[in-house]
Amino acid sequence: MIGDKKVLFSGMQATGNLTLGNYLGALKNWVSLSDEYECFYSVVDMHSITIRQDPATLRKRARALLTLYIAAGLDPEKNCIYYQSHVSGHAELAWILNCFTYMGELNRMTQFKDKAAKHADNINAGLFTYPVLMAADILLYQADVVPVGIDQMQHLELTRDLAQRFNGIYGDVFTIPEAYIGKVGAKIMSLQDPSKKMSKSDENPNGSIYLMDDPDTIRRKCKRAVTDSLGEFRYSDEQPGLHNLIDIFCACTNRTPEDVVAEFSGSGYGQFKEAVGEAVVSVLDPLQKRVAELEKDKSYIDSVIKNNAEKANYYAQKTLRKVQKKVGFPEKIR
Ligand code: TRP
Repeated sequence: MIGDKKVLFSGMQATGNLTLGNYLGALKNWVSLSDEYECFYSVVDMHSITIRQDPATLRKRARALLTLYIAAGLDPEKNCIYYQSHVSGHAELAWILNCFTYMGELNRMTQFKDKAAKHADNINAGLFTYPVLMAADILLYQADVVPVGIDQMQHLELTRDLAQRFNGIYGDVFTIPEAYIGKVGAKIMSLQDPSKKMSKSDENPNGSIYLMDDPDTIRRKCKRAVTDSLGEFRYSDEQPGLHNLIDIFCACTNRTPEDVVAEFSGSGYGQFKEAVGEAVVSVLDPLQKRVAELEKDKSYIDSVIKNNAEKANYYAQKTLRKVQKKVGFPEKIR
């Protein structure tokens, strides 16, 4: 708790181009949480280097992501928006937690296996202990809730196990975090293969709408979206392509599937795809304009970076001092 509010922590990586799925599924829904929770949203650049990055690109993308957080409506006075690498406590706590994590536990992590297979030429120790750094992120702020996708649930479970293990030995040090189950965001699938999640690492660029795609590109990708040959306008699992387009349309317009089916039941898929394109443009175009505006205001973004890193650091140090004392590190002489 901070004051009378529960603490919420989440992070995103600045690698790859963020997609409409990231926005509608996560970011957009974060905005409404800041009244209820004390929110920390980190740009987790330390996680990113588990895979080799071009330094200039990583730096640029990290800043773009931080700017996007603000453009999406996260007020940086109310939400702590910061770079993970600006708060050294993440690395310090991760080291300590490493010493409480079993090799066997990390060996079971499915994301490690996937990533190791994908990057067979660089299976580094950081990739292996990635979930421990993630646990440190969460526990450092004594987070009560963590909004995460299903792909990160295993890491959150590990975080809970580590916190419980540590508390079992040293007493109540860490808050045991829970997955945030609230108004869950829309799950957006690939436009080219609706059985797969829309992903920033998709090799087929037509499967994903990127947040920075221009209007014509958005329209074109929607027009080319895979549907089916049934020719019936229904919201059904048997028509996953159309189902996905309806989900996108609803998330962009705040309408319900029933309502949309009623309106478009007499129209062909082509006409609906056009409407989807316009709906997406009407969401992304203003978002892109806000990003462009913010990017011009370098000193404002810089001040957000500085002030929020200080705020994050304050809470991080509080936890870290407690933990260091528990494990037996000598007190600093001040
Ligand atoms: N591993 C997460 C992902 O790739 C990002 C992340 C890092 C995160 N630290 C976190 C998410 C802490 C939630 C909480 O999506």
